[in-house]
Parts: sequence; C-alpha cells; structure tokens
Amino acid sequence: MYSVLKCIKCKKEYPLNELIYECKSCGALLDVQHDLEEVKEAISKELFDKRLGTRQFPYMSGVWRYRELILPVEEKMIISRPEGNTNLYKSKKAAEFVGSTLENLRLKHEGENPTGSFKDRGMTSGVTQANVLGAEIVACASTGNTSASMAAFAAVGNKKAIVFIPEGKIAYGKLSQALAYGGITLQIRGNFDDAMKLVKEVSLDLNLYLLNSVNPFRLEGQKSIIIELLHQLNWEVPDWLVCPGGNLGNSSAFGKALHELKELGFIDSLPRLAVIQAEGSAPLYLSYKTGFEKHVEVENPETIATAIKIGKPVNYTKAVRAIKWTNGLVEIVTEDEIMNAKAIVDGAGIGAEPASCATVAGIKKLIEAGIMDKKDKIAGILTGNILKDPDATVNYHMKKLDGYACTHANEPIVVDANREDVERVIKGILNA
Ligand code: F0G
Repeated sequence: MYSVLKCIKCKKEYPLNELIYECKSCGALLDVQHDLEEVKEAISKELFDKRLGTRQFPYMSGVWRYRELILPVEEKMIISRPEGNTNLYKSKKAAEFVGSTLENLRLKHEGENPTGSFKDRGMTSGVTQANVLGAEIVACASTGNTSASMAAFAAVGNKKAIVFIPEGKIAYGKLSQALAYGGITLQIRGNFDDAMKLVKEVSLDLNLYLLNSVNPFRLEGQKSIIIELLHQLNWEVPDWLVCPGGNLGNSSAFGKALHELKELGFIDSLPRLAVIQAEGSAPLYLSYKTGFEKHVEVENPETIATAIKIGKPVNYTKAVRAIKWTNGLVEIVTEDEIMNAKAIVDGAGIGAEPASCATVAGIKKLIEAGIMDKKDKIAGILTGNILKDPDATVNYHMKKLDGYACTHANEPIVVDANREDVERVIKGILNA
C-alpha cells in the first residue's frame, strides 16, 4: 500500500518513516494519507464481515480488522492487546433522559477497551509505528487516559514510557494505571496545556517518540471507532454523531474516517458531527461561535471532567475541518449537566467517566433546543470507563460536590449492626 504523511495546509508530502509531527515548511498538522484508489481495490464490506468472524491475529482487533484504512505495516510489527470490539448500547433510561427513543439512540462504549478508554485504538497504531521506526522510548502529555494507555502498550511492546501529567489534576484510576504499568511519571506543576507544550519541546531533542494525538498515526487508529460503529450499524449512517472534545483527536479522526469511507463508497452520506465541551473548558466552542474566524484559546480551563480540561487543543485545525466536512456543530454543557447525565448513564447500568457523559448531556441539550429531533438517529460516543474517576462518582452520590445539584444522588445509608435496625431501614425504603 502506498501511504505518505501530508500537510493539511500546504499539502507537502513526506515519507511515512520521517520523524516529524508538523509540516517542516508551514508548521501545520500532518495526515497519514492513504492511496484511496489502491485501498478501494483491496477492501470490501464482505472482507470486513469475514474478518469479524475470526479469532485470527490481527483481525480479531477492532482496529486491525480495518488495517488497509489504518496503517500499511507488516503483521509482525503490530502491537495489539487486542483493542476495539466495543458494545453499541440501546438504553431506555438514557433515551428517555435525553428525549430520544430506544430505537434512535445508540451509545458506543469506548470505555470497554483494554485500559478503559478509546485511547487504546490510537495507541495500537501509534506504538506499532514506534516499533516500525525503531523508537525505544515513547512519551506523551496526558489528562490521564493517554498516559494509562501508552504505558500499557509500551509495556506490551517492550518500550519505555515517559508520561507528563498535570500534578493533582488527573483522576485517581488513571494515575494508578500509569504507575502500575510502569510508566515513568512526571507530575508537572502546571496544567495539561503546560505539560503538552513541554513534551512537544523536549521530544525531538531527547529522541522520545511523541504519542499525543498530534501524532497522525494515533488518529489513524482512532478512525476505527467510526468504522466499527458503521459496521455495527450495517453501514447505515446515523443523522448525528456526538463526542466530547478535549485535545480534539477524536473529532479530527472521526471527520477523516467519514470523509474516507464516503470516498471509498462505503457510505453515501455523512452524519453531522456534534462536539461537546465543558462550559469552563471550551476553546473550540468559543471559536465556533466566531464562525471559526478567531482561533480562541482558554488560559485556565476548569471542569470536573478532568479528561477534557484542555484550553489549547493541539488538533484544533483538524477538528474545524471535520466540523466543516460534516456540517457539524459545537455545543457546551454545564458541570451539573455533565454529572446529572453521568448519574443517568451509570444508573442505566452502562456507566462512564464524566467526560464521556458530556456526550449525553450534549444530546439532551440539543434535543431540547430543537436542533436534534426525536426522530433523528443519534450515535453518541462514551469515551472512558466508569472506574476511571471514582472520586467524582462517590462525591456526587454522597452530595459532597460543592455547588452541584446532585439531582440523582443515590446516598448510602449508615445502619447500626443489628437486625431490627436493618429491617426497619429496608421496610422504610420499600414502603416509601
Ligand atoms: N473523553 C475521555 C475519557 C478522554 O480521556 C479524552 C481525552 C477525551 C474525552 C477527549 O478526547 O482529546 O480526542 O478530544 N483525553 C486525553 C488524555 C487528552 O490525555 O487522556 P479528545
């Protein structure tokens, strides 16, 4: 297969094995550009169906099943857990909450990946490319999930992982994973944007292979979220595709995946992409509100959804491209809206971390505003596992989140250790 790195602005091309993250001429982001004519010859819906029924390496992976669209690479170089194959849920409770219907709302749970977030899909392609390049040390800045995923894939691929995380600002589940998988963990006294700037600066000089989503090979793996979703929907395109926006890797990857699938004739229309940001951390939304005339950055982003607490997203230009390609939009949700949506997603038995639930809060807001319709087919992406951020969940249910309504709190009940009290409490609840 013939693929190159291609600047999204000046269109300059570079070989796939050149160690660059930005165009050397104009500084813009790079795409991995496949020769779609060649890919078209090699793939078909039947081929993907056939691979779906196999346990054979690497096709049992929900990423490498679509390998012609991901990365031309020898099988022996692939580092896979395997990842993907995540469920697509229907939920009456979630549908009622947002104002949709059981048939029209689907939630794809990327928290069901091996390390509990969608990042695994980008890490399998990113760490595989590190392998191809012979890189021994990989690095990233992270709000938590990227570091957990990279540390795990590096361990599997026998590489050293160095993670830059904002001190005290990532969820406990994620920090514990980075440490446990053996990542060398630098707690930066600053926020994610500071950590991101630092890791970009030192990577080339210190010969660290950078695995943030500024690395275009990451995004090729993340495209598989959409390819797998459409495969699950029998290639029937929903009206809307909804995801949270932080560093904007997913939004960018989704746009590219959709654009390519249409070029390849796998789909004949595109869903509208709705990117949801937290109110206090919404640089894309603020830019969108200017018609993308201004590229707005947020100096001190704030949100309980720490995964998306990002003020200077590295994939801004690619996300704008995705929104333009899909006639998409950007919306914001409040902290209360995020946590109440989370209580519903969790209470439906699905469960996800706060940032993921921005998706559901966003769908609710857009239906209430009449922008989405009850009759629209909506696919929402849940990005991370419920166990990633136990503090947010427990504090919500204990009503210990200052300033939050905690509308759906399910408070634990303390009971003395005797049978009468236990019976009295249970009867009181059942008779209420
Ligand atoms: N949801 C979760 C659970 C995330 O971990 C992230 C990003 C996002 C949504 C936003 O996705 O960056 O593609 O727009 N987490 C990154 C990290 C930044 O370091 O783990 P995005």
